[in-house]
Amino acid sequence: MTTLTVNGESRSIKASPDTPLLYVLRDELGLNAAKYGCGLGQCGACTVIVDGKAIFSCITPVLVLGGRAITTLEGLGSQATPGPLQQAFIAEQAAQCGYCIPGMMMRAQALLNRDPNATDESIRAELQPHLCRCGTHMRILRAVRRAADELKKKSAEVRAGR
Ligand code: FES
Ligand code: FES
Repeated sequence: MTTLTVNGESRSIKASPDTPLLYVLRDELGLNAAKYGCGLGQCGACTVIVDGKAIFSCITPVLVLGGRAITTLEGLGSQATPGPLQQAFIAEQAAQCGYCIPGMMMRAQALLNRDPNATDESIRAELQPHLCRCGTHMRILRAVRRAADELKKKSAEVRAGR
């Protein structure tokens, strides 16, 4: 039995230690946001955050994840209460089929967490490993830009005591 910390909760799992995290999230924990695309670390659909870094969950065995903080898209908000990045993707209508979007969001969230002043160039470079077959790249970039601007505005308001 392995114990993982997922979205702040301790979860015991039965899968063998060499099982990729993606299968555990989807098949054992019922967290279906991360998607299976290529299974080879080449498309980004399965991306989650581990200890602040975006990783491909399809090629990461659970044995290396004990004691580490795993965040999936479900940890950023819910349908009823979407988080800031999710709100921005909705506002920009960034999804077409939506398959690539959870992975895009997780890498974008990791970027904004470590660099709230991310430039358009750094957002573009960061999302480079992610494929979108629908071609909504420009909307996705606009959504991440919108989220970054909103987060900056909020932190300026907090600093100003508003
Ligand atoms: S499914 Fe993991 S990178 Fe494609
Ligand atoms: S929105 Fe369909 S793959 Fe990106």
